[in-house]
Amino acid sequence: MKNLLVVADLQVFFIIPLCKLQRKRYNNREISSIIGECIVEKIAFRSAVAVELAGVPKMDYYKIRQLTGRDSESVRSARADYTPDDVRTLKRALIDGFAAWQDSDKHVPLVAIRMSKGGVGKSTISTNMAIATAMRGYRVLVIDLDPQASTTELFGVDSESDVRTVVSGVLEGHPLKDCVYSMSNEAVLHLMPADQLVAHFDPKVVAVAHREHLLEKFLERNREYIKANYDIIFLDTAPGSSFLNLNALVACDLVVAPMSMDGMSQKALKLLRTEIMELKDWLGVDRQVLFVANNYNKSQTHSRQNLEAMQLGFGDYLAKAVIPANVSVARQISGGIARPVILSEPNRPASLAIHQLTRQILRTVGMFGVDPDPVDEEADE
Ligand SMILES: Nc1ncnc2c1ncn2[C@@H]1O[C@H](COP(=O)(O)OP(=O)(O)OP(=O)(O)O)[C@@H](O)[C@H]1O
Ligand SMILES: [Mg+2]
Repeated sequence: MKNLLVVADLQVFFIIPLCKLQRKRYNNREISSIIGECIVEKIAFRSAVAVELAGVPKMDYYKIRQLTGRDSESVRSARADYTPDDVRTLKRALIDGFAAWQDSDKHVPLVAIRMSKGGVGKSTISTNMAIATAMRGYRVLVIDLDPQASTTELFGVDSESDVRTVVSGVLEGHPLKDCVYSMSNEAVLHLMPADQLVAHFDPKVVAVAHREHLLEKFLERNREYIKANYDIIFLDTAPGSSFLNLNALVACDLVVAPMSMDGMSQKALKLLRTEIMELKDWLGVDRQVLFVANNYNKSQTHSRQNLEAMQLGFGDYLAKAVIPANVSVARQISGGIARPVILSEPNRPASLAIHQLTRQILRTVGMFGVDPDPVDEEADE
């Protein structure tokens, strides 16, 4: 309940600028020239939300200003203008061990969003979860591995422009730092975008030895840059089977598998299970999977039945958060304007569910200093 209130608070701030802002789509030249400028909507919220996202004890407003270096600003201007960078500052100042963890030579976890069935919400979840993670003050890289480039488009980047992609990095030898674009002024939220040429990955690697390890090796080559700049990486994958998707499964630590509630995901589920078993048998790679129920409509009998079947079948492997079917998710891209739902309508049940899912995933991959889940807190009381 507490979280509902806080996010409602957040919406108050977002609704006003969003009505005024017409989103712009950027081509590559523009992206290059505006690195450091915002492509997603301004990510900012009230001080109380910053404290909640940081997972630090409630504190006096003047202390928050002091800790985030805002003493000189007028109280009025600073109150509703807290950013993910401020959340990180609060965490580093107030959570024991957070700064040491962030600066350490830690493993940067990779989360792959994967389901062979198309249209189940992979890109929606990738984009919104990446933003929800950045809002918690973590430094995030998103890699779009799908030539359809939905995640790239959801960030407001025109995928028909001449962007550097996974092909430029993995196959053409460009360093990762030259293939990432900053999506926000207020957060470390970077994107390695996709375009239709990503579809050339498979034909180009078909005769290459150890072709399923190419992405893993690329990330390994860029290990120092990754450690210095990011806390977590999300990989959005294309539907169907491909070498590139196999590369994502080999490289990642956790597979997040969204399923829609239409009962048609069963076949896709079998395919995913086969993929994971093959990974284990052939490559000795054991991947943990967390299933996510998406597009849930409680007024539809088949939706309720599918969710019950998933709960029975998956137990702890099913994420606690259930993402409801919501028109605000469906209209994230309309008229050439992209608005990830978590920013455009942060108070929607779908946005709250994505926050809950994000917390669970961050904990699963061992991220330090994840804010407490209000549902868990209520259960403990
Ligand atoms: N919870 C939801 N409520 C309403 N619409 C949704 C929801 N989740 C996803 N959608 C819509 O379903 C469509 C497919 O979503 P998305 O592109 O995220 O799926 P995908 O699995 O990435 O698809 P693909 O396999 O083609 O990459 C989009 O139009 C999206 O807006
Ligand atoms: Mg997609």
